Amino acid sequence: QKNFKVVVAGAAGGIGQPLGLLLKQNALITRLALYDIAPVTPGVAADLSHMDTAAKVSGHKGPEQLDDAIKGADLVVIPAGVPRKPGMTRDDLFNVNASIVRDLAVCIAKNAPKAIVAIITNPVNSMVPIASEVLKKAGVYDPKRVLGVTTLDVVRAAAFIGEINGVDPQSVSIPVIGGHSGVTIIPLLSQSKPAVKLSDQGKIEALTKRIQEAGTEVVKAKAGGGSATLSMAYAGARLAGAVLRGLKGESNVVECAYIKSDLTEAAYFANPVVLGKNGVEKNLGYGNLNDYEKQLLKDAIPELLKNIKTGEDFAKK
Ligand code: APR
Repeated sequence: QKNFKVVVAGAAGGIGQPLGLLLKQNALITRLALYDIAPVTPGVAADLSHMDTAAKVSGHKGPEQLDDAIKGADLVVIPAGVPRKPGMTRDDLFNVNASIVRDLAVCIAKNAPKAIVAIITNPVNSMVPIASEVLKKAGVYDPKRVLGVTTLDVVRAAAFIGEINGVDPQSVSIPVIGGHSGVTIIPLLSQSKPAVKLSDQGKIEALTKRIQEAGTEVVKAKAGGGSATLSMAYAGARLAGAVLRGLKGESNVVECAYIKSDLTEAAYFANPVVLGKNGVEKNLGYGNLNDYEKQLLKDAIPELLKNIKTGEDFAKK
């Protein structure tokens, strides 16, 4: 199969719009369905539909048009969510985003039970367990088909290393494992190819921190105007492209992703995986860690366990 239907759920947002723009340029996509609750959604679809690339774009606004959007999907990418509003606590925000992801997963179970689901909505560490539990309840769960998008962590690490080494970041290969927030983000700088040109451990640790906190770097620079959207859309489109190349039957498609895992105590964990005809075909693990990276992993696990439990508890409610 070479003709794929891809859905973006949350397609009118800061991430969703540039993600649609990038996916419209992917030649493997024949149908691009844009779903959102925002009134502008049909307009975003009309706008993108004027691009002279093959993918046929459809716009779907509001829950009554969701079934149609999802039906027949090979891949559903989810950046739907709400930004934190004044007076909203972190828990409030979590509950709103968690409900959005849960409802989308219910609809995917009904209309496209074989679709690959790629989740961008934060907190990714908790949203993947939520979607997984919902699909499980519906009897259609396959751990190979539910992924948390951690590609931006890899993209950032490669960009920073490219800068440090004075090389094209496209030539940098660097695994980032664990999860998708703060201390759960573990860049394996010791495995960077080419090796990172930093002589002392202090600089390695500073680069590690920069990668872990890169989202905050963008939030601060945008001065109240939101969080990372353009680089996130780029990362989402890259992961989506890799999933589709895998589905098409291309071999050796490798990306990092946050998936169901038994490598550590954490039931979900990100590391390099092989993407193939059924989604995640093979977990490549994370190889040898140096002492510093072992410590980072030790620090990440409790946080990951907490995030996963929060997601699973929500899904059981
Ligand atoms: N179904 C579909 N779309 C929804 C829903 C819903 N139930 N609720 C909200 N949306 C849409 C909004 O209408 C909006 O167009 O999701 C989009 C979110 O866009 P933004 O608010 O611009 O947020 P964005 O910066 O794109 O981030 C989205 O990704 O990285 C994460 O933390 C981020 O969880 C957030 C998400």
